[in-house]
Amino acid sequence: MRVRTRQPQQASPWITHFDAERKSQLTARTFAIVNQKGGVGKSTTAVNLGAALAALGHSVLLVDMDPQGNATSGVGISKSSLALTTYHALVGGEPMERAIRPTGTERLEIVPSDLRLAGAEVELVSQIARETKLRAALRPVEGRYDLILVDCPPSLGLLTINALTAVQACVIPVQCEFYALEGLTQLMDTIALVRRHLNPVLSVAGVVLTMVDPRTKLSDQVADEVRRHFADLVFATEVPRSVRLAEAPSYGMTALSYAPSSRGAAAYRGLASELLARIGMPVVDGRHNHAEATRADVGDDRGHSADSDVAGDAPVERGADSAGGSGPVVDSCRAELSVRASRGQEGRGDGDG
Ligand SMILES: Nc1ncnc2c1ncn2[C@@H]1O[C@H](COP(=O)(O)OP(=O)(O)OP(=O)(O)O)[C@@H](O)[C@H]1O
Ligand SMILES: [Mg+2]
Repeated sequence: MRVRTRQPQQASPWITHFDAERKSQLTARTFAIVNQKGGVGKSTTAVNLGAALAALGHSVLLVDMDPQGNATSGVGISKSSLALTTYHALVGGEPMERAIRPTGTERLEIVPSDLRLAGAEVELVSQIARETKLRAALRPVEGRYDLILVDCPPSLGLLTINALTAVQACVIPVQCEFYALEGLTQLMDTIALVRRHLNPVLSVAGVVLTMVDPRTKLSDQVADEVRRHFADLVFATEVPRSVRLAEAPSYGMTALSYAPSSRGAAAYRGLASELLARIGMPVVDGRHNHAEATRADVGDDRGHSADSDVAGDAPVERGADSAGGSGPVVDSCRAELSVRASRGQEGRGDGDG
């Protein structure tokens, strides 16, 4: 196992300022996997976190809110054969229930999506209560699932606003590359706006670092920078760059099915355990607990350059002290103020207005 202890942090002033607010327990059961930046690992996280939560014994509904339909194909559903999709539930007047499909993973179901959903963005504009369509569509089915994950498209348009209005919390994947923080100010502003006007319970459940390559200094620096900004809002479990995670969707399989002993699969099991701990939910099926997920577990990731780094195993974990604890609760208001404070006090130009 490679566990890197978090470096002594120079917590941003806004982090300590809001410490008192971290005491309450996050009770969210519905999550948007959101970041308007493209290709940061949203769909990979939605699919594999969903599969990992299901493996831990919870019934999970994955809602594909992206016209690209990557979460849909990621669980092995062909986009060419879809009768009913998220689009039909959002604007077609079909009950969401009719669009739900099983996946190859036990306890994981999906509302699939395809390109037709792109039309919803346009069609919704003129509709009454256009921001709350997903919330209304989900209401009749949400009681059937322990957890609901919504995979968002790479934009802050109406589809994402619908997702943020429908869920209780956000999980924000941040790719460990140079422009990682770019756009996060705008995202936090949007979350705060939705919270203020549409969904007062919306909070940020956590930030997950994705495509971490511990061999590169840049990856390390970016991870440290993100942790400096978001402190223990960042999950201790980091998702490593893993060829198995990238390959799995081409076989229509989650990484947990395709390469269960890979570092990527282990990372998502670790992330699932951590999320459950943060929201105070039990592991129903204890086969994969957090400790197991962080054990040496290279498995079939061997042989690929990015997967066979000197660390040897993964998930990379920093700040293990924050894993599995009571879990910080940072609501979007705080996040908004945080980002503003960091803007003002550190002069960071995120360049995203
Ligand atoms: N940890 C990882 N290691 C290696 N490849 C990854 C990892 N996570 C995601 N990928 C790959 O990176 C690409 C982008 O990932 P993904 O589709 O999950 O991002 P996204 O944020 O959903 O993208 P979009 O914004 O287009 O919806 C995909 O090809 C995916 O297979
Ligand atoms: Mg995606």
